[in-house]
Amino acid sequence: TTGYITLDSGYMNTGSCSSEITFLDGEQGILNYRGYGINELAEKCSFVEVAYLLLIGELPTREQLDHFRALLSRFALIHEDMIHFFDHFPPNAPPMAILSTMVNTLHNFYPEMSSDSDEELLIIAARLISKIRTIAAFSYKKSEGHPLIYPRYDLSYCGNFLNMMFDKPVKPYVVQPEVVATVNKLLILHADHEQNCSTSTVRLVGSAGVNVYTSISAGISALWGPLHGGANQAVIEMLEAIHQDNNDFEKYIKKAKDRNDPFRLTGFGHRVYKTFDPRATIIKQACDQTLQALNVDDPLLDIAKELEDIVRNDDYFVSRNLYPNVDFYSGIIYRAMGIPTNMFTVMFAMGRLPGWISHWSEMTYGSDNSRIGRPRQVYTGYKKREFVPIHERN
Ligand code: SDX
Repeated sequence: TTGYITLDSGYMNTGSCSSEITFLDGEQGILNYRGYGINELAEKCSFVEVAYLLLIGELPTREQLDHFRALLSRFALIHEDMIHFFDHFPPNAPPMAILSTMVNTLHNFYPEMSSDSDEELLIIAARLISKIRTIAAFSYKKSEGHPLIYPRYDLSYCGNFLNMMFDKPVKPYVVQPEVVATVNKLLILHADHEQNCSTSTVRLVGSAGVNVYTSISAGISALWGPLHGGANQAVIEMLEAIHQDNNDFEKYIKKAKDRNDPFRLTGFGHRVYKTFDPRATIIKQACDQTLQALNVDDPLLDIAKELEDIVRNDDYFVSRNLYPNVDFYSGIIYRAMGIPTNMFTVMFAMGRLPGWISHWSEMTYGSDNSRIGRPRQVYTGYKKREFVPIHERN
């Protein structure tokens, strides 16, 4: 017994839940969305197709996919009144802070979900998935002081994002199929990941009856952490530091092993995977292909590969099952595309959004999860004490 709650009392609700959406096996390095393997989905689907699978539970027919795509086009614009919000953020406002605020603001302009019908879920999801893309691109253009580029009906989900990010009135952007394919793949690989920190946040906030927009906004805030989705930005900063230190790998390996040093080799390790993160393997391959297609020679890629090689052959890291995770190589691809470092976690949020919405819906309308989340604790504080009046305290 520790204090008032005994370990065998059954009070220890670990906050775990049941879900039909994603299966992870951390020992085998397996990741399945609704029963389909991540490798096949990443190679054979579009992000919109995988978003539909996560939301509805089945791969869409051609007609269902066309309908979902039409909804995404229909909801691509944000209310013009929302655009004035961008003028009131400080010039150096972090894009993740803007994203969290603007997604929460959607609640003021658009209706909440009022039934568990598939069609209504698709409409709410299309509104969020389409508008987060527009908000992300608009926030980048605003930060650059460039004119906003509006979405176009004739472009795909990912093609539209790239065009809204990089098109300029003075120099039209050419949407390259291989870049569009890579963005699709990256968004698919980030689309869901079981009960990670940000998804659990969305579920917990939503379990109190909070609307989907505000619940997603909470998930965006959780994802921002450098131990979570913020790691893809931190990886680039670490690789740049090693590069500026003339590739002094030993210095960083020593720091990572020093228990008195808070430094961690960011992009390595995972709470669940104790073998290769299957997403990292796919992203590493995409890295080589994309940089070659873009004719980009980034020294940080060579540094990343050498660091991975050192870690995989060092007993300290091998004994702790530390392998590259989803964040280790993704930033190098975004960098090659011209996406700024402070937008990397925004890309993660865009990818994770269908997963967050699916979990919010499962938790809100699912059979056995619609109770408020209430994790318990092991109490380790004082047992009951007698009160001491202030004149007797010393
Ligand atoms: C994501 O949960 C998800 O699914 C998340 C995610 C998703 O898709 O949603 O996969 C996305 O968040 C990926 C993780 C991104 N974060 C990073 O890359 C940050 C660097 N990684 C570490 O901070 C750490 O590995 C975590 C946070 C990812 C996992 O932490 P754990 O499981 O709590 O690991 P731990 O602290 O128990 O570490 C076990 C040992 C410790 O050493 P000892 O106490 O045994 O001596 O391994 C060491 C740690 O010091 N360790 C590391 C390390 N990660 C763990 N040492 C050096 N570098 C690291 N990166």
